[in-house]
Amino acid sequence: MPKNILITGGAGFIGSHVVRLFVTKYPEYTIINLDALTYAGNLENLRDIENAPNYRFEKVNILDATALQEVFEKHQVTDVIHLAAESHVDRSILSPLDFVYTNIIGTVNLLNLAKDKWKGNYANHRFHHVSTDEVFGTLGDTGFFTETTPYSPNSPYSASKAGSDHFVRAYGETYGLGYVMTNCSNNYGPNHFPEKLIPLFINNIIHNKPLPVYGKGDNTRDWLYVIDHATAIDTVFHNGKNHEGYNVGGFNEWKNIDLVKLLCKIMDEKLGRTAGSSEKLISYVTDRPGHDLRYAIDANKINKELGWKPSVTFEEGLGKTIDWYLTNEEWLKNVTSGAYQQYYENQYDGR
Ligand code: NAD
Ligand code: DAU
Repeated sequence: MPKNILITGGAGFIGSHVVRLFVTKYPEYTIINLDALTYAGNLENLRDIENAPNYRFEKVNILDATALQEVFEKHQVTDVIHLAAESHVDRSILSPLDFVYTNIIGTVNLLNLAKDKWKGNYANHRFHHVSTDEVFGTLGDTGFFTETTPYSPNSPYSASKAGSDHFVRAYGETYGLGYVMTNCSNNYGPNHFPEKLIPLFINNIIHNKPLPVYGKGDNTRDWLYVIDHATAIDTVFHNGKNHEGYNVGGFNEWKNIDLVKLLCKIMDEKLGRTAGSSEKLISYVTDRPGHDLRYAIDANKINKELGWKPSVTFEEGLGKTIDWYLTNEEWLKNVTSGAYQQYYENQYDGR
């Protein structure tokens, strides 16, 4: 049976890398990128593959069940890789309902279609739900999140992602829908929208703007290069066991302040600035409410069972990422004009 894979959120940061990987690696598949093109969606991310014969684009909101059904029927969708979401924790604190709509109701709309259209033949179809380690809540100074860690989300974003994960499992248990799930740690890399820590700080360093470190900067995140997340999704989509979840991470923990100082050092070198000049931009600001202290993924299951591991070290990945932003300043300029300015003022002015 030919595969017509619907990738939702394919114009976003991670989605665009997943779409590119599937379009180029699997010319025998038809890849349908479905995206509402919110502030975070950008077709510029896919210019290099937009004319590929096996690539299609549909501008559709996953809240529009009728339009979704039309896409399913028009393209005879055989599988779904679901990435479309509201993804930024700070925005979820400002506007939780947007996250309930897209992340929970949008996911259930997709599940309903998959359930109805693939009925009687679930073994030949797969719903791959892309989720986050934030559903597990926060760790103390030690330990790791495994696939059996209980859910304990702390932000409206993570609560909405936890809700979507539960619905995916429930459709597997109740209706027998075939699914796999991946829960990944913090990604970084090209095309990352500059509201998240790494691209925001790269952009601010370029423009000599303050670097707003929340609290004391002692929160810890586990960073993974985005292309390694895309290969993990490829691996689990094709080889993951039905009805199972896989944690994805790079065993690469960094305290925010240490990461920011490393970023400053590399940026000084690449921009030909005096050593220590970017660090002077660091400004400690009011903490994020409910700020999770530490995330750390135990990625042994995906490594041992499916053979996946990251392809780049953090230093390599960060270097590639900074180089991408320095050679794509036009991309940065385009995404930081207009509505971004308003968001930035609301989020950081007087903080
Ligand atoms: P992103 O915000 O960069 O992109 C989200 C994409 O979804 C955008 O293209 C946007 O236009 C689209 N979208 C949003 N609402 C939509 C709607 N209602 N209908 C259709 N399209 C809509 O997000 P990202 O960082 O690329 O994250 C992608 C997925 O991976 C999300 O599900 C996120 O929860 C998950 N995830 C992200 C990370 C990370 O570090 N960024 C880590 C683990 C998991
Ligand atoms: O863990 C996976 C999650 O990682 C994904 O599910 C989310 O979609 C993604 O946004 C990311 O969430 P975080 O909240 O960890 O990422 P963010 O880049 O917003 O923040 C990283 C850390 O940096 C966090 O401890 C907060 C801090 N921070 C962030 C910003 C934007 C700052 O100190 N200052 C800032 O301005």
